Amino acid sequence: MIGLYVHIPFCAVKCFYCDFAAFSGQNKQVDRYLAALASEAALRAPHAPDTLYVGGGTPSELSAGQIDDLFARLRRAYPDARLVETTFEANPESLDEEKLAVLARSGVTRLSIGLQTADDALLKAIGRRHKAADFARVLRAARAAGIPALCVDLMYGLPGQTLDGLGSTLDSVLSLEPEHISLYGLQVEDRTIFAKRGVEEDQDMGREMYQLAIAALSRAGLEHYEISNFARRGRRSRHNLNYWDRGEYMGLGCSSASFLGGVRSSNEEKIVPYMTAVEAGRRPTAETEAPAGLEALGEEAFLGLRLLEGFVPSKQTRESFAGPWAALKARGLAREDGSRWRLTGEGVFLANEVFKEFIPPFPRQEATA
Ligand SMILES: C[S@@+](CC[C@H](N)C(=O)[O-])C[C@H]1O[C@@H](n2cnc3c(N)ncnc32)[C@H](O)[C@@H]1O
Ligand code: SF4
Repeated sequence: MIGLYVHIPFCAVKCFYCDFAAFSGQNKQVDRYLAALASEAALRAPHAPDTLYVGGGTPSELSAGQIDDLFARLRRAYPDARLVETTFEANPESLDEEKLAVLARSGVTRLSIGLQTADDALLKAIGRRHKAADFARVLRAARAAGIPALCVDLMYGLPGQTLDGLGSTLDSVLSLEPEHISLYGLQVEDRTIFAKRGVEEDQDMGREMYQLAIAALSRAGLEHYEISNFARRGRRSRHNLNYWDRGEYMGLGCSSASFLGGVRSSNEEKIVPYMTAVEAGRRPTAETEAPAGLEALGEEAFLGLRLLEGFVPSKQTRESFAGPWAALKARGLAREDGSRWRLTGEGVFLANEVFKEFIPPFPRQEATA
């Protein structure tokens, strides 16, 4: 199983919380960028991907013709692809019937639409351009266009967001019956407008909101399968499951990451340095590392524990992290289910605390080594 991720770094505006490689005012670069993606694919060893994820940034910022061009280039670059899933990310204000028809014709099986909240005043306060009504219109149009799985991105813990407000957002989204929901707690990242304004994460409120959402989504029949992800039966993201299984993937485009043959690499973050490198026939790699030893084993654990059903640790992982694992169980954050390691309900809330045990400098590991 190998996943192909294609990064589209263009956005209408930069949202106040966002630290992704996503740039506004750069759309004049799109055609050159699409050609650069094809050049980058040609510089790499051939692969036959099983899943394709076009993410961003905002892929729906491309025109219908540019979306068509993107998929044509990808088909030419990967003639042996045996895609079982194709995801495309979109923002409500930049999707229309014409683009949806191109997406359906291009084999998109999952459309991931960023709503964040259905509260129009809050949307404005976090720097979003669309209104809740735009989202509902686009979701219905996507359904009519025949895209099989509609996925929605939501956020909680936003400044000024209330429990009631989150409840109403969930009610209105659930009434549209999406197949998949991703729900992210606000992280205030450096370099964002929120960080400059001194916005702080509210852990207690975040926890209450997360609990409320888990209850509402499970009542509606969406299974909580990963810390931030909920799906109807058979609608889990196969592309993302491959990340959590520590499978191989390759990334095209600025800032994208690859993990091939045990080597992780990431591309130049900015659009122009990325394009300049591939146009000169150079791989646009910015960083490369080959996780080994405890680091690789720890990665197996903290990725596998993201899944609510947990994972079966390798013998080496089980032995190397025996001390930290026993301590996590004693704290009520983790448990064993047959041969699987998994988080408890409390561990899901405090997942970042748990993951610290498996990430260098391995606090407890060093104490027990
Ligand atoms: C990087 S965006 C790309 C998709 C699309 N442009 C959009 O805005 O929906 C993917 C999702 O990441 C989430 N996200 C981005 N920045 C975040 C942050 N600082 N904290 C929590 N979630 C965040 C949002 O839910 C967003 O929909
Ligand atoms: S959240 Fe989405 S639309 Fe907003 S800046 Fe980030 S990538 Fe662009």
